[in-house]
Amino acid sequence: MTETILAITGPTSGIGRGAVKVLATSFDRVLLLCRNLEKGTLLKKELTELNTELKIDIIKCDLSELSSVQQAADHIKEQYDHIDCLINNAGMVSASKKESVDGYELMMATNYIGPFLLTHELLPLVMNSERKQIVVVSSGAYKFAPAKEPFFKPTRFNPISGYGRSKLGTLYLAQELHEQYSREGLRATAVHPGMVSTNIGKDSVSKALGDLVFKLLDPFFVTIDEGCKSVVSAVEEPDKYAGVYSDEGKVAPVKKHGSDFKMRREFIDATLEELHLNAL
Ligand SMILES: NC(=O)c1ccc[n+]([C@@H]2O[C@H](COP(=O)([O-])OP(=O)(O)OC[C@H]3O[C@@H](n4cnc5c(N)ncnc54)[C@H](OP(=O)(O)O)[C@@H]3O)[C@@H](O)[C@H]2O)c1
Repeated sequence: MTETILAITGPTSGIGRGAVKVLATSFDRVLLLCRNLEKGTLLKKELTELNTELKIDIIKCDLSELSSVQQAADHIKEQYDHIDCLINNAGMVSASKKESVDGYELMMATNYIGPFLLTHELLPLVMNSERKQIVVVSSGAYKFAPAKEPFFKPTRFNPISGYGRSKLGTLYLAQELHEQYSREGLRATAVHPGMVSTNIGKDSVSKALGDLVFKLLDPFFVTIDEGCKSVVSAVEEPDKYAGVYSDEGKVAPVKKHGSDFKMRREFIDATLEELHLNAL
């Protein structure tokens, strides 16, 4: 029997870490795409304790750098001919304007452009699997995205609209995958996990301020064990969530630019142009 393979980005913290620990018994092999190999090694040890049969590969992948994404994808393509489920989970928030090595606003680079390239490169492997599944961890923050260019290199920085724009991109990516490949059996979905008490955004402000903000907002946050359930459900029930956006596990309508087809077309086409790709 062919081994089942899960590939996940951002498994070393928060929602991704919670989800991969639950899913450790559902696949034969897991590919941990990490920017920090030490954290990946610690996670591998924990996962092995949960499932001694699980085969685990740690793959270096910094999603904010296109060359790192390409190297990770090339390595995976050399080693494997299929991926049953790809979870695009990694993401970050920055309170100040930062640029990626490739010249993009850093949240856009990490949350959208890197994952788009990774998905493009790994899509043939997903389509070559029995399960054919892609789960994109988006965010309800997609509603804060302004509907105008420039999409990737804004002249003015605003952390909320910047994060929102990157998360609108991830929602569009899931929609586009569904539209183009569902007829060939792909089950793609976008998930908003709710407000989850993780490390996100904490390194973009001082630790004291980060801890204070999280403490003040604490009543609104769910734990990681709760928050990762929406991702786990999306993986475990591919048909239920195929082609839809879900908010804390419930299928939800997409609002504002999330349902603007023309804007999606422009956004996706602009991404293809940036990455010199002909198609997703
Ligand atoms: N927490 C929430 O309330 C919430 C709400 C809506 C959506 N989300 C989304 O959920 C996803 C997971 O976030 P989280 O809350 O679990 O945050 P988190 O605890 O900070 O975990 C983020 C993960 O992404 C990885 N990552 C960050 N930058 C990366 C890069 N340049 N290259 C590769 N990996 C990178 C981190 O790696 P390190 O361990 O090395 O830092 C970590 O594994 C994100 O896409 C986020 O936008 C979160």
